[in-house]
Amino acid sequence: MRRKLGIAAAAAILLGVIGGSWLWWAPQAGKGGPGLRSGLVSSVTIGGPFTLQNGAGETVTDADFAGRHMLIYFGYTFCPDVCPTELGNIAVALNMLDDKDADQVAPVFITIDPERDTPELMADYVALFHERLVGLTGTRGQIDKVAQQYRIFFRKVEDPDYTYYLMDHSSFVYLMDDQGGLVSMFAYGTEPENLADTIRASVRGEQPGA
Ligand code: NI
Repeated sequence: MRRKLGIAAAAAILLGVIGGSWLWWAPQAGKGGPGLRSGLVSSVTIGGPFTLQNGAGETVTDADFAGRHMLIYFGYTFCPDVCPTELGNIAVALNMLDDKDADQVAPVFITIDPERDTPELMADYVALFHERLVGLTGTRGQIDKVAQQYRIFFRKVEDPDYTYYLMDHSSFVYLMDDQGGLVSMFAYGTEPENLADTIRASVRGEQPGA
């Protein structure tokens, strides 16, 4: 995405959706904890059931991840900068976890550009970043639904600097717990240490920093 426009648009959408809870909620982002979740759920629900396709073209649903946390990022493989940077940060964070903790979180990259991001392309792309990263695509309708559930903004942009179209899109990373509830929402560029600390605490059922 083009960073400035995407973040501004995402912030505008979030402000619109979350409304008055934003000021209370924003300082908590990235820290997790029960207060964030209960407060957020009172005004807006993030997440929900989905049906998508994995890199082998097989149908996967949220039920396939039952019992594990999910670290979810939305983007597209043609993204020139933001997606590769954020997926790199996610990969660094995953490497900071020991295997036992890492086994309890499924890192998932969901495309918002399914017209170009075929299952095979998604599989090849996520493999560039981390062996644990799962790439998911789907029909336009499936993608629109899951993007709406996560309040993901996106739109196609023609850019004269590129021979192919770009996508403006929200660039938040979501940590969902093993019950499908939102633990934390990370802004683009969150330090990998912060991601790893929050994931580790969450899968262990601890408060971050404890
Ligand atoms: Ni991107």
